Amino acid sequence: MRAQLELELLGGPTEARLRRRRPGADDLPWGTLDAAAFDPIALHEARAVWTNGVFTEYASAAAFAAMAGAFLECRAPVDLSAAAADIVVDEIDHATVGSRLVMELGGAVAFRADFDLVSPATTPGASSLMRAAELALKTSCVGEALSISALSRSLAGADHPLVHAVLDRLLRDEGHHARIGAWFLEWAGDRLTDADRCHLAGVALDAIAVYRPLWHDRCAACEAPAALGGTAPQSHAELMIDAVRTRVAAPLERLGIALDRHRLDELLA
Ligand SMILES: [Fe+2]
Ligand SMILES: [Fe+2]
Repeated sequence: MRAQLELELLGGPTEARLRRRRPGADDLPWGTLDAAAFDPIALHEARAVWTNGVFTEYASAAAFAAMAGAFLECRAPVDLSAAAADIVVDEIDHATVGSRLVMELGGAVAFRADFDLVSPATTPGASSLMRAAELALKTSCVGEALSISALSRSLAGADHPLVHAVLDRLLRDEGHHARIGAWFLEWAGDRLTDADRCHLAGVALDAIAVYRPLWHDRCAACEAPAALGGTAPQSHAELMIDAVRTRVAAPLERLGIALDRHRLDELLA
């Protein structure tokens, strides 16, 4: 069932724990954004971009939580499982900081999602090792790798101090988020057969296909101001296509997971 995206804090010891684990959120320059200074249509677009961003962070938290569970189930090294679990807290911090920015922009736009389906699906009947590999691929090697490029581009154009500070906080954590998938696949190396690698290459292509709207048919008129984190549709599309080739496909090939070139070209066309 679809429900409106809303983040709720319980408060008390659990909120205090989150703030202790991820300090500094209160020190960002909150209260410095004058929403009335922006064109109302562009401002609405920025609210939409950031509302979607909060959902993406929330969904990433769910994905890393599933990954941490799968790592434990397949007896991956415990520090790797700890990193996946810790990244869940990064993503929840990102969601809360993003949601606070949305409030400064004037509030969230309507955004309904089926939260029962927020965790990524894996192939039914797959072994714990393959479930972990699929989650590592989809979430880290594809999703987070693309997010680094998108966030870096937004950060470069965001000259409002609050938006810049929020993007900087988000981006600071992303390096490990995008690398944990490769760390897992390197560890899993000899445990994967050629057939497993072939299956994983298909999973990676399916995951890339999900992001196709980022470079294909993106609404040309929907552009949030760069100062508020927006990016121009055409240059963003080119950036994403380059990121798929250089940050996703090439590193996967080095890990022995070669994507079908023909299908990749079709997806990027
Ligand atoms: Fe994040
Ligand atoms: Fe992330």
